[in-house]
Amino acid sequence: MLSYQHIYHAGGPADVHKHAALCLLLEHLAAKTKPFSVIDLYAGEGRYDLTADRAQKTKEYDQGVARIWPAPAHPPLMQGYFNVLSGLNADGALRTYPGSPEIIRAFLRTDDHLTLNELHPSAYRTLRHWRTDDSRISIHKRDGLEALVGLVPPAIRRGLVFIDPSYEVKTEYTDLAAKLAHATAKWPQGIYALWYPILAEGRHRTLIENAAAQVEVEIFKSEIMLTRPNHSEADGPIGLLGTGLLVFNPPWQFDTAMTEAGIWLANALTAGSGRHTSAWLRRTKD
Ligand SMILES: C[S@@+](CC[C@H](N)C(=O)[O-])C[C@H]1O[C@@H](n2cnc3c(N)ncnc32)[C@H](O)[C@@H]1O
Repeated sequence: MLSYQHIYHAGGPADVHKHAALCLLLEHLAAKTKPFSVIDLYAGEGRYDLTADRAQKTKEYDQGVARIWPAPAHPPLMQGYFNVLSGLNADGALRTYPGSPEIIRAFLRTDDHLTLNELHPSAYRTLRHWRTDDSRISIHKRDGLEALVGLVPPAIRRGLVFIDPSYEVKTEYTDLAAKLAHATAKWPQGIYALWYPILAEGRHRTLIENAAAQVEVEIFKSEIMLTRPNHSEADGPIGLLGTGLLVFNPPWQFDTAMTEAGIWLANALTAGSGRHTSAWLRRTKD
């Protein structure tokens, strides 16, 4: 039984981190005229109305995108992300937050292709209504882990798989590395970006260790720790300690771009108390 609904978390700090990285990867793919394909395995609803009751209940965007919007001074390499935000919020008031499908779609050219996958019945229904008129987009309703192996390689061999699970099933932490090892063996040229939450239980460490041991392509890690200096026990559980990304087969210079963006984001999202760290888990070239 799937209960996770992304609208409660839309535009939160984790979204900002993963979506800034997604934009950097898409900019790289769109820099060449050759077509590219993207597979978004845990697509969600497409886009989110931040004024809706469910988004207002948690207001996670207050700790995320609202802290950097409208961002009068931001590094030029964040421009792609801000262009998507401005495209949806033209009058400057932040009402709509783009999900990964909306972000990816903003970068598609005529011959590029986007494959979306979403298993939750109601999120799938919303996603199907989101862009029914775009022939560059196909939509599946499969288990994300099964689709990770089943959908690669895509017909267009330049591209990216975006993996953003809800981690409702705790075995996802252990199963992901084996599936990634299988997928990268089937499509070794593909770029794969995997998001994970950093929680007190520390399950993400198993995921990282397994990925480094089993997936035989280059792996780059970016993490933002969301230190909250004024948090007290009375405020309740602290929840998300940080947000992490593993990028498999990162494009040339993604490491420096992501590090610059991550340092800026860690500062902007936490008023200077957070921290970005990055590292290569596996490096085969200099
Ligand atoms: C973190 S949200 C995705 C957010 C989206 N990628 C974005 O950036 O806007 C995770 C999504 O995965 C879906 N989901 C959960 N379990 C799944 C599974 N086994 N296979 C595919 N989708 C699943 C959830 O319904 C939810 O919409």
